[in-house]
Amino acid sequence: MDITNLKTYSDQKRCVAASFGMQALQQYMRFEEGDTVLDAGCGTGEMCSYISKQPGVASVVGFDLSPDFISYAQLHNSAKNVLYHLADISDASTIKPEWQGAFSKVVCLFVLHWIRDKVSALKVLHSCLKVGGEILLVCPTDKTKVYRSQVLMASHPKWGPYAKDFVASILMPWPSRDLANQSHSSHLLEESGFDVIACHVGNYQYSFDSRDQLRDYLRLISPYLCSIPEDKQEEFLQDLEKMAQDCHVIAGDELLTRNDDYLVLRARKL
Ligand SMILES: C[S@@+](CC[C@H](N)C(=O)[O-])C[C@H]1O[C@@H](n2cnc3c(N)ncnc32)[C@H](O)[C@@H]1O
Repeated sequence: MDITNLKTYSDQKRCVAASFGMQALQQYMRFEEGDTVLDAGCGTGEMCSYISKQPGVASVVGFDLSPDFISYAQLHNSAKNVLYHLADISDASTIKPEWQGAFSKVVCLFVLHWIRDKVSALKVLHSCLKVGGEILLVCPTDKTKVYRSQVLMASHPKWGPYAKDFVASILMPWPSRDLANQSHSSHLLEESGFDVIACHVGNYQYSFDSRDQLRDYLRLISPYLCSIPEDKQEEFLQDLEKMAQDCHVIAGDELLTRNDDYLVLRARKL
């Protein structure tokens, strides 16, 4: 992600990921009286703000790796019952001792594809839940169209040299083989101590207001854009848009619709 332009990032989050995240929360998460909620990888805090207003929710803690995102969240998405912290989901030593066994719900939306060691991260989240508490994970798999389009850009004769390292070493979508073994379960979650309640691939859609908004979104999902010479960036974005259309990430000429499949996992701490 390009986090150098926070304004664009947050606008796009509100529009695209926040829309997907909210659809997933509305479909799969039932908040209850007194819920204490942890949002792991909360980004700029749009979801924390949304969750904090749901009936019954007592408090929300959001954490993220990025100091810039946490500062933005504190400034723009604060509420009396929301706290933001810096922490790394893959480093248990950054998790506050008072978070152990403290939360009745954990959400982790569009984060785990940045994490190589998913079992360690899932164990961290497991340790933060109360017994009987529930987790909702939404994550791209290696079959998610936007990921496939990134893989193709990494082998593109013109853009591959810029994109290759990023795609190969930074993006780690959920392996679909983990799901193929048992169609309604996940070994990764079971190995991390969870009882899987539901596991399936959901389709999410978002319509962009304009081509400029789509361009901002494509910039956001191309963190290696800054390594492409400035005079070639426009050509790159045109090729990326074409690739996104060829891979059916986006469709339509007038109403550009982003349409993709994401893994949705719900599980409980035994
Ligand atoms: C695509 S954004 C999703 C943000 C938010 N969950 C949402 O749905 O709006 C991914 C977030 O994961 C965060 N992230 C990546 N690696 C992380 C890690 N190791 N620990 C905590 N957060 C991480 C990024 O900084 C970024 O804010």
